[in-house]
Amino acid sequence: MLIAQISDCHIAGPGKNAYKIAHTAENLAHCIDHINQSNPTVDLVLVTGDITCSSQIEEVERAARLLDRLRCPFYVVPGNHDTRSVLWRVFGGRACPEMSAGFCNYVIEGREIRLIALDSTVPGEPGGEICSIRAEWLDKRLAEKPAQPTVVFMHHPPVKFGVLETDEDGFAGAGILGNVIEKYQNILRILCGHIHLSSHGGWKGTIITTAPSMGLQLGLDLTLTRPSEFYLEKPGYLLHYFTPDRNLITYTVTVGKMDGPYLFDEQ
Ligand SMILES: [Fe+2]
Ligand SMILES: [Fe+2]
Repeated sequence: MLIAQISDCHIAGPGKNAYKIAHTAENLAHCIDHINQSNPTVDLVLVTGDITCSSQIEEVERAARLLDRLRCPFYVVPGNHDTRSVLWRVFGGRACPEMSAGFCNYVIEGREIRLIALDSTVPGEPGGEICSIRAEWLDKRLAEKPAQPTVVFMHHPPVKFGVLETDEDGFAGAGILGNVIEKYQNILRILCGHIHLSSHGGWKGTIITTAPSMGLQLGLDLTLTRPSEFYLEKPGYLLHYFTPDRNLITYTVTVGKMDGPYLFDEQ
């Protein structure tokens, strides 16, 4: 099974760039073309939030027109730059198949890996939250199939990842989420976005993995002293490969021209 993860598209309105200078829509189109050309084919795509710049309907519709070019099913969760009701209006029934207690929480069944979408957003706030309603919902869903390999996907990582811009946003309810996660041994990964960098960290017996963005990289400064800043980079996405021996391996794919390939034998 092959899963692609796109994150932090930050699509602006038609004809506009994100933060005036980031060509996120063009970058998303390049990533979609790349995913469509994958051999073996990608089974499904997860879009882990911040689909738009400011959740305007024209931004969501522009993102949907691009994502609809994917040749496989895709699923979305909101980020702090999105509004769950607007996403539901545009994507509801297909890429956001269900709303649970007003949250964009749902389960994708019928695959080798069970995928659980968790809505970590707080309307109007940059930070994330898992409240008791969402934690209880997750616990019930996980308890249904505690032996099937499972991936949880959400926008905000529940721990600090050493990036000032997003660490400062905070995450409420990490304790109650952690109490649920550590009860289950079948959670292969928690897939997140929000920090605009490809990274991995262990947490509560599983691994949190974060995806790169559509070319809008946050500054990596582990001294946490530099001002909030971003860099324009080549866009990228994650490819999660569930191998025949049931191991989930993650590759960071950078999309753009590169020199090569060269044959070792000819050098
Ligand atoms: Fe973002
Ligand atoms: Fe975000």
